[in-house]
Parts: sequence; structure tokens; C-alpha cells
Amino acid sequence: MRATEVRAAVDGAIGIANLRFAYPDGVQALRGVNLTIAAGEKVALLGPNGAGKTTLLLHLNGILRGKGDLRIMGERLNNGNLKHFRAQVGLVFENPDDQLFSPTVFDDVAFGPLHMGLPKDEVLERVRLALAQVGMEGFGERLPHHLSLGQKKRIAIATVLSMSPAILALDEPFSSLDPSARRELMRLLQTLPQTMIVSTHHIPIVRHLFPRTVVMDDGRVVADGETEAILADAALLEAHGLEVF
Ligand SMILES: Nc1ncnc2c1ncn2[C@@H]1O[C@H](COP(=O)(O)OP(=O)(O)OP(=O)(O)O)[C@@H](O)[C@H]1O
Ligand SMILES: [Mg+2]
Repeated sequence: MRATEVRAAVDGAIGIANLRFAYPDGVQALRGVNLTIAAGEKVALLGPNGAGKTTLLLHLNGILRGKGDLRIMGERLNNGNLKHFRAQVGLVFENPDDQLFSPTVFDDVAFGPLHMGLPKDEVLERVRLALAQVGMEGFGERLPHHLSLGQKKRIAIATVLSMSPAILALDEPFSSLDPSARRELMRLLQTLPQTMIVSTHHIPIVRHLFPRTVVMDDGRVVADGETEAILADAALLEAHGLEVF
């Protein structure tokens, strides 16, 4: 990779150059990912099962650490800035049970802002707003583990919205949502100003919500461009196990 390309790759809100990662059992999940996302962009991440989408998203706030160059707002993760890094990237796991661990919904949504050292009034306001944004007002005293899957997914999103991160990285946020919850989440994502990278298998949502689409397969980015152009490329979609109805 030429120096100018490397610089271009690290200048965005997210800058990734030649990122490689193998799981401890030897599975090579990322084989040299290059991706730059500018501040404010909303990007869909498509790809067949096992393409490496989740693995890539887990790198964005340092849960996984591969080889290569990964920068958030121009800054490379190191052992001293992990907390700052995590506050910049709100990562929502596909499975909300991986995200929710507190005795009440309120505690889960308040956890991030409390950890940031914000004053109590501000924490309360952020929790109120985040629950309202995901349509879960009034659920503060409920037990997260006694909610339905779709409700848990909404609370998991609220736990990162309450931190007001610059970047949202959402792993299949639309799965398990009923149609009205899906519509509400689409509306919410449309109105949020954050830079977003969202993995999904839901092509109609991609078309509706994301101007740019990145396609991964076998640990690499195999296409990256305007959503309309990518979704119109039948050969590309077929070659990578994707389908447009
Ligand atoms: N914890 C793990 N240990 C070993 N290999 C893993 C682990 N998690 C994922 N993999 C492997 O890494 C590769 C990429 O998986 P990943 O979960 O990132 O794919 P994905 O694109 O998110 O797929 P899906 O659409 O099914 O969610 C796959 O080959 C997968 O089997
Ligand atoms: Mg996945």
C-alpha cells in the first residue's frame, strides 16, 4: 500500500488499513481489511455468514485487537486510551444478553454515563432521553433479563446512546424486531447525527437508510460504494451470497 493510501485510510472517523485478525483457534477472520469512513457517514455492512462483519465491528472499540492500522478519529488504540476509545464508539452486540448485565434497565442505561463521571442530574437526563429514543420509556425499573428479545435489543441500543458516542457500530440491530419496532429504529437511525456502521442482512433497510454500502466476504472488503450501485450489481451480489428480492 502506498503512503498516500495509508494516510487516506487513517484520516476518517474510522480509518482501517490492512487489518488482519485470527481467532485463537487459528481461524483467519480478517485478511487485510481497508476501510475509511468519514464523520457523519451512514454505512451498511453486508456479507454472507462468516464474512467477518462481527469480527470487524468488535475491533472498532478494542474488544478484539488485530494486526494492521486501526484509528478512531485519527487516534490509534493503545493500552493507555482504551477508555477514551470506548467512549467514542458505541458498539451494540448482536445478542443483547452480551450487553445487559445490571439488575435493572435503568442501571444498564446509566452505566456508561456514570462510568464517564457525569453528574447525577445529567445521568438521569441521558437515561430518560435514551429510553425515549428507543421507545422504552417506563421500563427503567424492569429486569433486563425478563424482557423480550426485541425489547432487550432496544435497551442494548439505549445503553450506548446514553453515552453520546461519536460513532455507532451496530451488529444486526434489526434482527428480532417486530415491524413497528424496526420502523421506529430506522427512523431513529435516520435522525441521529452519529457516524454509523451497521451490519445487517436486511436489504430493503439498506436501500432505505444507508447511502453507502460495504460488502465483506472471507475476511475482506470486496465492494464499497454507493448503495444503489452495489444493490444493482446482480453479479456481485450473487458472487457473495447476497440476494435482492
Ligand atoms: N470466537 C470465535 N472463535 C473462532 N472463530 C470464530 C469466532 N467467532 C467467529 N469466528 C469465525 O470467524 C469468521 C468470521 O465470523 P464473523 O462472526 O465475524 O462473521 P459475520 O460476518 O459476522 O457472520 P454472520 O452474518 O453469521 O453474523 C467465521 O469463519 C467464524 O466461524
Ligand atoms: Mg455477525
